[in-house]
Amino acid sequence: MKKVMLIFGTRPEAIKMCPLVNELKTRKNLQTIVCVTGQHREMLQQVLKIFDVVPDYNLDIMKDKQTLFDVTTSILSKIKEVLEKEKPDVVLVHGDTSTTFVSALACYYLQIPVGHVEAGLRTGNIYSPFPEEFNRQAVSIISKFNFAPTQMAKENLLKECRDEKTIYITGNTAIDALKTTIKKDYYNEHLQWAKDSRLIMLTAHRRENLGEPMRNMFKAVKKIVEEFKDVKVIYPIHMNPVVRSIANEVLGDMDRIKIIEPLEVVDFHNFLAQSYMILTDSGGIQEEAPSLGKPVLVMRDTTERPEGIKAGTLRLVGTDTKVIYDNFKQLLVDKNEYNKMSEAKNPYGDGTACIQIADILEKNLGE
Ligand code: UD1
Ligand code: UDP
Repeated sequence: MKKVMLIFGTRPEAIKMCPLVNELKTRKNLQTIVCVTGQHREMLQQVLKIFDVVPDYNLDIMKDKQTLFDVTTSILSKIKEVLEKEKPDVVLVHGDTSTTFVSALACYYLQIPVGHVEAGLRTGNIYSPFPEEFNRQAVSIISKFNFAPTQMAKENLLKECRDEKTIYITGNTAIDALKTTIKKDYYNEHLQWAKDSRLIMLTAHRRENLGEPMRNMFKAVKKIVEEFKDVKVIYPIHMNPVVRSIANEVLGDMDRIKIIEPLEVVDFHNFLAQSYMILTDSGGIQEEAPSLGKPVLVMRDTTERPEGIKAGTLRLVGTDTKVIYDNFKQLLVDKNEYNKMSEAKNPYGDGTACIQIADILEKNLGE
């Protein structure tokens, strides 16, 4: 029997890998092992619980205010033993976090084949997003199976001379997850609080935005809320203490802004579905929003998800207070502009990415 090990460590990786774990576990001729690095702690546990995934290994590396050096060295030193003990036939990593890069690097050192889920996303600027663009480019050098979500992602890999035979377009497993979470009759008391208002969902956490850029984003949100009395904001805040302190400083005492703890993914997806629009610097939310038909102002200078821009759902607005404010205001006052951005389109596949990836692995590992 061939052995597949999945390694992941943060919330978004878990959301997009747990459906794959559960699919792989249905395959009788594959043995599936899960190793979490614990780069995230509470935010990871939330997701594992929802998808009922119990890891075989937890490296439990998270430290408060961890640096890239902390994460990289802790994972690299602890993962060796697990890989040497289990000797998997393939290791699957996801996306672009430090967990992703370091796990792939460890596999390379031990000459274990790597499969990269969500391969081929690019901004072309290794400092934006930081360090994710470097991480995903580096993993592409190593990986033997590249599971690209879209044709554009495949083309990015081909431009870097990756062998076409290693690239499979599967759609994004985010859509597989989204298919299971949205509920028509969803109820939550936070949504009741916002029911007579236009609800804006806000998230922010990117490393390159910590400090002034994040302060600038929040100032724009504050200005809009002061001006538009029918707007309420729910902000499920990331657990990073640096993010928390900036958010409390700028948005802490606003009646129509609720800063709440990170939501479980089922809740978060339903909050998005019931919102008017979204402001974020997140990656994954840029994939979910087009399916839900919710306009997104992406508060970053670059995006690796041009499919959502092309679909018309995403608008890249950077981190300047005035630019965010102007775009935000336009979508509140100009119904035409809002309608143009709120058509539900899904560039990320039909929700069968996990089945396709499992099929490809069964076929190729069997040979
Ligand atoms: C990480 C990823 C980023 C991804 C994001 C998803 C890297 C370098 N960054 O960034 O690509 O978009 O996850 O959210 O891989 N913390 C907790 N509990 C948790 C999680 C985090 O307390 O469950 C706090 C800790 O103080 C931790 C800090 O948040 O040190 C930052 O976590 P870290 O994983 O280093 O960075 P993220 O910004 O979460
Ligand atoms: N998400 C969640 N709860 C929250 C906020 C986000 O479950 O309170 C989900 C969201 O639906 C998406 C993922 O977390 O699937 C995005 O995670 P994050 O923004 O932390 O990371 P990124 O995608 O930017 O790497």
